[in-house]
Amino acid sequence: MTAEIIDGKAFAAKVRARVTEEVARVRASGITPGLAVILVGEDPASAVYVRNKGKQTVEVGMESFEHKLPADTPEAEVLAVIARLNADPAVHGILCQLPLPGHIDADKVLAAIDPAKDVDGFHISNVGLLATGQKAMVPCTPLGCLMMLRDHHGSLSGMNAVVIGRSNIVGKPMAQLLLGDSCTVTIAHSRTRDLPEVVRRADIVVAAVGRAEMVTGDWIKPGATVIDVGINRIDAGLKEDGTPRTRLVGDCDFDSCAAVAGAITPVPGGVGPMTIACLLANTLTACCRANG
Ligand code: GUN
Repeated sequence: MTAEIIDGKAFAAKVRARVTEEVARVRASGITPGLAVILVGEDPASAVYVRNKGKQTVEVGMESFEHKLPADTPEAEVLAVIARLNADPAVHGILCQLPLPGHIDADKVLAAIDPAKDVDGFHISNVGLLATGQKAMVPCTPLGCLMMLRDHHGSLSGMNAVVIGRSNIVGKPMAQLLLGDSCTVTIAHSRTRDLPEVVRRADIVVAAVGRAEMVTGDWIKPGATVIDVGINRIDAGLKEDGTPRTRLVGDCDFDSCAAVAGAITPVPGGVGPMTIACLLANTLTACCRANG
């Protein structure tokens, strides 16, 4: 079997087009949705994400506010920036890029964001709302995964889903969303016994462990759908000029998994583009909720 490729890049473009149309309508009523992003420090991967977020925010017609703070910014100052953004009516969404430098308590920072502006869905109120099936801000990466799964399958009801990874950002909210769509959900992780055996029972596999190409084709049930959340940069030999070449890969070994799966998301071009598209959609939602 050769898997169908789930094209996250094309899907994200459709989501952005819908958001763009809706933003135009909101702007016609005199309100411009605004997203504020806080970046503390100079982590290069985070800087790239933040730049992309800002660029796409402007492209869909929303206002982008970037707050770049030095790595040694005291926690109190980050909290003060958040307090100002919470009070600013032009800001409908607030995102503080993770990871934060070690001297800053990320839980404290996330708890300081107004839950109504928490477009990441990381505030404990939104975590609780999602867990109890209420209207929540839903974390962007799992939301993007769910949208692709629903688009591919229609109903997910009764399917066996295995989420590999138990992070607060992806694994746990992903499991909640799949449960909300009536899947039978298993959360597997680094300590799970007989992990390949557990994964082989899954109709849906969501891999979010952060280990390059860990999931191989022999773990996959024939015809299963594989959603690869991983973004890992690995060595790929040398360029002609002798400098190192790198390659982006997921948590799944693409070739062997695609030979067995029914459908699979590629890396890059799968989950990644959907994450930012969902962030824009969440910002629009926050703006619409704030303005009735
Ligand atoms: N770091 C890696 N992924 C994310 C995300 O989705 N949101 C935030 N705020 N930081 C991240």
